[in-house]
Amino acid sequence: MTVQALGYIGIGASSLDDWSDFATSQLGLQPVDTTASCRTFRMDDRRQRLIVDKEGSGAERYFGWEVADAAALDTLAAKLEAARVVVRQEPSALADQRFVRDLISFRDPDGNRLEAFHGPLLADEPFQPARAISGFRAGALGMGHAVLMVADFDIALAFYQDLLGFRISDFIRNPVKAAFLHVNPRHHSVALFQHPRPGMHHFMMELYSLDDVGQGYDRALGVDNRVAVTLGRHPNDYMTSFYMRTPSNFLIEYGWGAREIDVPAHQPEEMNTIASFWGHDGLMRSVAGDHAPPGHMPPPPPEGRRAPVQVVEGNYRKLSGVCPWWDATIVPQFENPKNNTHLKAAC
Ligand SMILES: [Fe+2]
Repeated sequence: MTVQALGYIGIGASSLDDWSDFATSQLGLQPVDTTASCRTFRMDDRRQRLIVDKEGSGAERYFGWEVADAAALDTLAAKLEAARVVVRQEPSALADQRFVRDLISFRDPDGNRLEAFHGPLLADEPFQPARAISGFRAGALGMGHAVLMVADFDIALAFYQDLLGFRISDFIRNPVKAAFLHVNPRHHSVALFQHPRPGMHHFMMELYSLDDVGQGYDRALGVDNRVAVTLGRHPNDYMTSFYMRTPSNFLIEYGWGAREIDVPAHQPEEMNTIASFWGHDGLMRSVAGDHAPPGHMPPPPPEGRRAPVQVVEGNYRKLSGVCPWWDATIVPQFENPKNNTHLKAAC
């Protein structure tokens, strides 16, 4: 696999102060550097993860994809050039700004600026969140996931799969063509949605504690027009999350409890709906708009869908007693090992 994780993102924004307030008091990111034209933020042991740049236009953003080492970066550059993708070897001054050893840049089929790098710099000091959260689940999983709306789904999918080494976690054909792609055990680092207006729909950050998300939800509810999508749970990565409007024209998904996938063994799964188990009111409107044709909306989900919570070691207490629905769910899967490998792995 060529790309290992999403290392950083950069966004262009006219109002640095609005972004700083949102990134710290709402998200809990740690402010690092402040200049007249740029603000940077930490979310874990990396020197920086989010860069907000006044020089870029509101629509300009870049995604920093990490590869293993210099040889992997050279291999990726050669592969892109062989596919007639224009690749730029960036100067050391830019590598210094990104706090990486070396980087290249290129664009995906929809014009998103992508950077690939190796050798990220770690911070000297422990991460200090700007508000009282337990922390972000990032590290080797990368800083989260980006959901991109693309003009030509098949071309975009081929680019991310064949050139960058992404693999499909799951996908849907109707009512919209979409695929969720992984590069490590995070269920997806990128999702691609066929859409007439290309761009980034949202960026996801995952917290260690459900309470971090709930307290962030309380805080967001206290700000006019901040919550774009209500609290809910996704059916594919099992994340419990809500979505916020940002000072830019994309959303931030703030979530907890996404499942991991077994990368070597995983086979792509087709979904018949992307409707959430519950909640997430506003999600489809945020994708399709208020006047979307009926065919754009997913069918109502069947009732009674559920899945185990996904927890890290130490962040749970087992209760006494038995769970009838869990026994009914898991026993048939052991009898048929081809069913739902992720559920078996979770038990
Ligand atoms: Fe998401």
